[in-house]
Amino acid sequence: MKSIGVFDSGVGGLTVVKELLRQLPAENIVYFGDTARVPYGIKSRETVIRFSIENILFLLKHEVKLICVACNTVSSFALPVIKNYFRVPIVGVLSPGVREAVYATQNKRIGVIGTKGTIKSRAYEIEIKQLDPVAKVTAVACPLFVPFAEEGWIRGDVVTTVAKQYLKPLKDAGVDTLILGCTHYPLLKQVIREVMGKNVTLIDSAQQVAMEVKKILAAEGELNKGRRGRQQFFVSDNPEWFSGLAKSFLGRPLKDVRKVNNV
Ligand code: DGL
Repeated sequence: MKSIGVFDSGVGGLTVVKELLRQLPAENIVYFGDTARVPYGIKSRETVIRFSIENILFLLKHEVKLICVACNTVSSFALPVIKNYFRVPIVGVLSPGVREAVYATQNKRIGVIGTKGTIKSRAYEIEIKQLDPVAKVTAVACPLFVPFAEEGWIRGDVVTTVAKQYLKPLKDAGVDTLILGCTHYPLLKQVIREVMGKNVTLIDSAQQVAMEVKKILAAEGELNKGRRGRQQFFVSDNPEWFSGLAKSFLGRPLKDVRKVNNV
């Protein structure tokens, strides 16, 4: 039985795997986390494209029927280019979140937070405007949120102070919908919600991504019929570090994480 291939710069893509497991428990999943080269969020477009192609070539060795790019930086910077290189369906995390945000907003003021690369690419802004040309988009990079999530600093004074500073332009712009445009940010949802206020809808695209994967596999007659799929996890460095963080990102610990050289 073929698998769904998933890759991310590191551990963050496990937030997407969590949702895939919930919605598609019968599917086999092969995950690759590029922990040797993380973070992607501060790298150039050319480098992110090159890394992404290498990661996809690795996943293709594992008989994948679809590839899920569980990284916002890759989805923003590289997806339009890498889609042209491969025949396998490739799903990113950007479009599903954009569609949900455009649907959710009442005042047509949408906020986006992400890595420096994601925000610099303006990919969210461009796609939102394609769906709704009158929507106003305010986009802010929140680079410190990634190490906070990885260090388990998801609550408390320090993270709240930083969040208040990062999110101020979004509050000033009066956004009623905020896209969490980075794999790590769902872990900081509680603080982000406290700072933004409960009237702002937070969009975490993992759920929509899993729905899109399901739709594509169903349309191609590729959904697995069995009861429980199996998951394999590969990283390019530090499997112990990855396993240690799995609990916060995936909701359960991971024992069998293998280190590979994908390049
Ligand atoms: N996975 C990245 C993203 O969603 C965050 C971590 C990184 O910078 O590599 O943009």
